[in-house]
Amino acid sequence: MLTSPRKFLPLIANHSGNRSPMTCKYRCGDACFHEVPNTSEGAYLGDIIASGISRRSLLKVGAVVAVAGAGAGAATLGAQPAAAAPAQAARGLAFTPVPPNSEHAVSVPEGYTSKVLIRWGDPLFSDAPAFEPENQSAAGQERQFGYNNDHLDLFEIRRDEHVMVINHEYTNEEIMFPGYDPAAPTQDQVEIAWAAHGLTVVGVTGAAQGRPSGELTTVVDHRLNRRLTATTPFELTGPVAGSEYVRTTADPDGRTVLGTLNNCAGGVTPWRTWLTAEENFNQYFANADEVTDPVVRERLRRYGLPGGASQRKWEAYDPRFDLGAEPNEVNRFGWIVEVDPFDPGSTPRKRTALGRFKHEAANIHLSRQNQVVAYMGDDERFDYLYKFVSRDTFRRNNPEHNATLLDNGTLYVALFTGNSPVEEIDGSGTLPSDGGFDGAGEWIPIVTSDEAGAHSHVEGMTGVEVLLFTRQAGDAVGATKMDRPEDVETNPLTGVLYVALTNNTNRGTGTNPGPDETNPRSSNRHGHVIELMETGNDPRSYTFDWRIFLLCGDPNDPSTYFAGYDKSQVSPISCPDNVTFDPYGNLWISTDGNALGTNDGLFGVAVDGEYRGQVKQFLTVPISAETCGPKVTETRVLVCVQHPGERSGATFENQFSHWPDGGTSVPRPAVVVAWRPDGIRIGR
Ligand code: FEO
Ligand code: CA
Ligand code: CA
Repeated sequence: MLTSPRKFLPLIANHSGNRSPMTCKYRCGDACFHEVPNTSEGAYLGDIIASGISRRSLLKVGAVVAVAGAGAGAATLGAQPAAAAPAQAARGLAFTPVPPNSEHAVSVPEGYTSKVLIRWGDPLFSDAPAFEPENQSAAGQERQFGYNNDHLDLFEIRRDEHVMVINHEYTNEEIMFPGYDPAAPTQDQVEIAWAAHGLTVVGVTGAAQGRPSGELTTVVDHRLNRRLTATTPFELTGPVAGSEYVRTTADPDGRTVLGTLNNCAGGVTPWRTWLTAEENFNQYFANADEVTDPVVRERLRRYGLPGGASQRKWEAYDPRFDLGAEPNEVNRFGWIVEVDPFDPGSTPRKRTALGRFKHEAANIHLSRQNQVVAYMGDDERFDYLYKFVSRDTFRRNNPEHNATLLDNGTLYVALFTGNSPVEEIDGSGTLPSDGGFDGAGEWIPIVTSDEAGAHSHVEGMTGVEVLLFTRQAGDAVGATKMDRPEDVETNPLTGVLYVALTNNTNRGTGTNPGPDETNPRSSNRHGHVIELMETGNDPRSYTFDWRIFLLCGDPNDPSTYFAGYDKSQVSPISCPDNVTFDPYGNLWISTDGNALGTNDGLFGVAVDGEYRGQVKQFLTVPISAETCGPKVTETRVLVCVQHPGERSGATFENQFSHWPDGGTSVPRPAVVVAWRPDGIRIGR
């Protein structure tokens, strides 16, 4: 079995990084091959805010607003390291970088070890069947770990016992199922795919009792273990719940949605719940061409809905995926989902006050007053960066109150302005004469939600429409078109926000928008990372300063920039995607689609001090996989290895990868944990 000669299609140039065309097809519904959905003019329309919040027009080109009250780290942001730094590293990043490679394996630095913690098909419950790829069932998959893990996080239960949360972004039927026919999937295959999507909650424990080891083991039948799939009931909350836009034949009240789809990155809340983000939900819904209402058609176009059949043909087995039959079902996806991992019987909630777009993640930062600020990216070329500011404050030990925080508040979209003359931004990545790609910015309020409903700040749109068709609200207020805003995370030590922009090869091509100071490279293949400093270091601010921290790529490429650090001492990095912070305030970045041609990886980089900008590769995932979900603690590093073996031409019978089990096995997306067997902490 599995002995047929391999025949794999070459990579197609000019799509998303080094991502294989097969990944584009199954993961994003070929988002990079479609027309850019954002055809809005993008000019700032000024005072079109209809009501509500008064907005300060503080944008002064060339001004640098002081970050009063910022922590010590923030205060050093302007300082650049010495050009020739010693071959040492920041605290927490003292490891020998892993060189770029194309191995069919996970690579970690010398002195570290790693293992697969859990992989597709592993049992969560003792009644789960053993994983048999030739003999799968939906009932079995519902009791097993799902496919294509993306975000992960850990909540501590007690010392060395955690509950781990992981989402399952999408399925790749061609390499999952024997004899798969993309034109005519069987009902069994579709139902298994429904069960392989969604979320997993699983207990994990440290393996070496009494020893400071980073090793972890999953616990079958842990009391918190849970699978949520494409058919689990979820509750819609906030102003869109119950509205005419979300009522369907199966749910005339418009409040209960079956399933969550295409969950990408995520975050956790201070009240110990999990936020997971519905991203490329559009690809699951068929027959947008059957919609005749021009207003609805334009909404569908802006979200990239396919005109005819969907990629996976789910509409053949459930009419809710057919827009011709059930036009509102699509409006019930594209939300941030909140899950209580400590209550396996709880109904997760889709939080409509946070807007609907291709959500990458939601990461929360508390203001000094304990208001909740959730930062969010919309992962599409030329789409926007958002934040939600809660009306009410987080209260410790009051879960009922905290469960309402994400239903009441104001949603904002970001407008960036550069401080250098536009003629100095030539698309090459050459720094402007003031030495930096930087400037100021403004958060434009678009809708405020409360118990009475949604109050629009955008002329011509109701509040509910702004929440549902948030991209069009961003268009209307002239938000800044970004190079695929992905994960967004605040440095807990300084309050500085880091925004990963994966890439945008369409920047400056054809009729697409050209470079600007915030997205300064034409045909941006390698992506960049922006630092955003809220005015007064207050995440509720209406204004901010920003500067580019990294312009990714091969350090020998003159268009790259590593915060001014000596380029001879950094690891090549391409297509930054998910970000996290370690306990020392170092930024860790995982990559998706490394356009330098080698495997994706996980990188640590100091953001302050003499090593600021020293990017170091800690880990690589197997060829054809993507690195996601990073979690970095004192003693362990966890990553999700997503879509191993996803190379065009691969099928179940003709696999490109046999990771992690080897031999002739099918590739299995998995969570990997790395640690130091000698018990020394990570990077020390
Ligand atoms: Fe699922 Fe934006 O990556
Ligand atoms: Ca500048
Ligand atoms: Ca991602």
